[in-house]
Amino acid sequence: MMMMPLRCLSELARRRPDRAVDAMRVGLRCLMSTCPLSKATDDSQRLYATSSCANVPEVALSEAPLSDMLVDSFGRFHNYLRISLTERCNLRCQYCMPAQGVQLTPNSELLSHDEIIRVAGLFVTSGVDKIRLTGGEPTIRKDIEDICLHLSGLKGLKTLAMTTNGLVLSKKLPRLKECGLNALNISLDTLVPAKFEFMTRRKGHSRVMESIDASIQLGFQSVKVNCVVMRGMNDDEICDFVEMTRDKPVNVRFIEFMPFDGNVWNVKKLVPYAEMMDKVVSANVLKV
Ligand SMILES: C[S@@+](CC[C@H](N)C(=O)[O-])C[C@H]1O[C@@H](n2cnc3c(N)ncnc32)[C@H](O)[C@@H]1O
Repeated sequence: MMMMPLRCLSELARRRPDRAVDAMRVGLRCLMSTCPLSKATDDSQRLYATSSCANVPEVALSEAPLSDMLVDSFGRFHNYLRISLTERCNLRCQYCMPAQGVQLTPNSELLSHDEIIRVAGLFVTSGVDKIRLTGGEPTIRKDIEDICLHLSGLKGLKTLAMTTNGLVLSKKLPRLKECGLNALNISLDTLVPAKFEFMTRRKGHSRVMESIDASIQLGFQSVKVNCVVMRGMNDDEICDFVEMTRDKPVNVRFIEFMPFDGNVWNVKKLVPYAEMMDKVVSANVLKV
C-alpha cells in the first residue's frame, strides 16, 4: 500500500492551472481531514491512496494525458484512491480509537459532497479506476448514498468500494448498491458477541453479521472480512474465521495489528503474518 503524495495535486496545478486551483484547495483540505488513525501523523498521510503497483499501462498514458502524474518514482502507476469521508465512528475499537474518541475537525474544513466528487473526478480523469470510501465510519455520513451515486457515475471508474464496520450497513445496502457501490470490506475481529463488545466498546455483533449476510444476498461482486489479529484477544479464532468461509462466500483478510498513536499497541500483542499462516496450516482447516 502506498500513500498518495501531495505532489499529485501540485502537479495537477502545474499542468491544468484552469482546473487546479480548486482542486488544490479541495485536495489540501482533503489531506487535512478525516482518518482518525492519522491524527498524529504527517500531512501526507491524511489522504491515503493505495496502489496496485502495476507498471505504467501504455494505453492509460496515451488516452489520459494526466495519468503520468500518478506514476511514482519506482515507475508504478497508482490506479487506486482511498477517500476518508469522516473521522467520526460509531465504534471505539481498542486498537484504533481511544474510548473518548478523537478531536474532530470542524465541518467547515471537511470536504463537502461536491468537493469530494470534484477531486475524485480529477483523479479518475488521470487514470484512477478504483475508489475506496473509508473513515472513520463512512456509513454514518448522511450523504453517503449521494456520494456513491455521483462517484459511480464518473466515466472510467470500475470499482467503487467501501470499508465499513457494518454496524448500520444492512439497511442501507440495497440503496448503496443501486447507487453504484460494488465492493465491500466489512471489519469484524471476533465471532464471539461478548468479545465484540469488549474489543469495540459497543454492542452490535449481530448487526455486523447481518450486514455480511445481506452483502452476500445482494450479490456484491466482492465481500471481504477484515480481521485485525491481536495476541491473547482473538488469535484463538483464526481457524474459526477460516471455517466461516465454508458457509459464506467471503474472503477473510487477517491484518497484523499496527501501532498508532493513542492505541493499545504492544509488540507482545502483534501476531506476525507467518504465525497466522502456521496456525491455519497446522490446524488443517484448509482441507476440503
Ligand atoms: C480505520 S477502519 C475505517 C473504516 C471502518 N470504520 C471500518 O471499521 O472498517 C479501516 C480498517 O483499519 C483497520 N484498523 C484500524 N486500526 C488498526 C490497527 N491498529 N492495526 C491494523 N488495522 C487496523 C480496521 O480494522 C479496519 O478494517
